[in-house]
Amino acid sequence: MASVTLEHVKKIYDNNVVAVHDFNLEIKDKEFVVFVGPSGCGKSTTLRMIAGLEDISEGVLRIGDRVVNDVEPKDRDIAMVFQNYALYPHITVYENMAFSLRLRRMDNEEVHKRVVQAADILGITEYLGRKPKQLSGGQRQRVAIGRAIVRNPAVFLMDEPLSNLDAKLRNQMRAEIILLRKRVDTTFVYVTHDQTEAMTLGDRIVVMKDGYIQQVGTPQQVFDTPTNLFVAGFIGSPQMNFLKARLEKGANGYQVNVLGVQLPLNAEQNAALTERGVLSQDITLGVRPEHTSVLFEKTAGAIECEINVNEMMGSELHLHLSSQNGDRIIVRLPTVDLSAEQRSRLAYGNKMYITFPAKVMHLFDPKTEKNLIFG
Ligand SMILES: Nc1ncnc2c1ncn2[C@@H]1O[C@H](COP(=O)(O)OP(=O)(O)OP(=O)(O)O)[C@@H](O)[C@H]1O
Ligand SMILES: [Mg+2]
Repeated sequence: MASVTLEHVKKIYDNNVVAVHDFNLEIKDKEFVVFVGPSGCGKSTTLRMIAGLEDISEGVLRIGDRVVNDVEPKDRDIAMVFQNYALYPHITVYENMAFSLRLRRMDNEEVHKRVVQAADILGITEYLGRKPKQLSGGQRQRVAIGRAIVRNPAVFLMDEPLSNLDAKLRNQMRAEIILLRKRVDTTFVYVTHDQTEAMTLGDRIVVMKDGYIQQVGTPQQVFDTPTNLFVAGFIGSPQMNFLKARLEKGANGYQVNVLGVQLPLNAEQNAALTERGVLSQDITLGVRPEHTSVLFEKTAGAIECEINVNEMMGSELHLHLSSQNGDRIIVRLPTVDLSAEQRSRLAYGNKMYITFPAKVMHLFDPKTEKNLIFG
């Protein structure tokens, strides 16, 4: 059993900074959970409390069925991988990986077996005789992970393990962590500020801000049904567009009035808003750049915009538009189906028309910032 349960966990540092407020989460055995959020939101603090590297100010932490608030890190059956690798520079890769096992007085044969096996999983067998400074950044990171694997921990903790690597290597290592996870079948808690990493790695992700959990869910849930404006803006790239709009409840259901057009909502949205008793009100309308329909011709019900910037990304274009009242909207437009004539019309200063299908519209209360349907 290696579930990890946090109940009302709180961290107050000596200087009275409350880094984590009332953190509640049950991480299941063999689950891969990612803590994600901007700098300073309390990700590392929470992870370090799980590791036993920080005291827990209030609340209960369990690993499996055991309350571990006062258990020493070495007795928690966890292994942690840090951002800066923290390898011992003067000993070989082999000895770095063997270090913690030797401390536990494991016999040589078992140490050898585990180091060789971990090196094989990570593809670093040929470097076992080298010292850390004779390795590239990605290779060092593999050694740091190897050092954790050999311990066969019940829970793997990783704090931004890829952030010291360049973009290409980071993508490659991200894929390797997905493979590693399949081979090392254990519980993972992974910290990152990078939403792409969170989305691609996590079975579930925990979005944090200012020491509070904002939302817990699968990547798809968090992407499709963000509970508030913060989560909506944090997950997804480029960021979701936010527009001032008004929700109107009429005889035929709800509609959104935005930038001079009226857009109907669908049956599901109508049912949810009715059930919640939502009345006509001002809203913040959220629409993702990739969910915006782009039209080249003036069309009834479409919003007229002007092209400010056209970023060519290869397989798609990022168009930065401004509406007639100055709202800025980014849209992603796949290039594959664009004709030469259409491309020529995407120049700076030209007019474009956009519209939002009902299912891609996210409705937020501008005051509480909560999602009117899922918040
Ligand atoms: N030892 C400490 N003493 C006092 N305050 C601290 C200490 N460590 C962290 N903090 C504060 O606690 C808050 C959370 O810090 P934490 O390191 O957990 O953030 P983080 O989400 O990991 O950020 P980052 O993405 O920058 O690593 C921050 O406001 C930070 O300044
Ligand atoms: Mg951190």
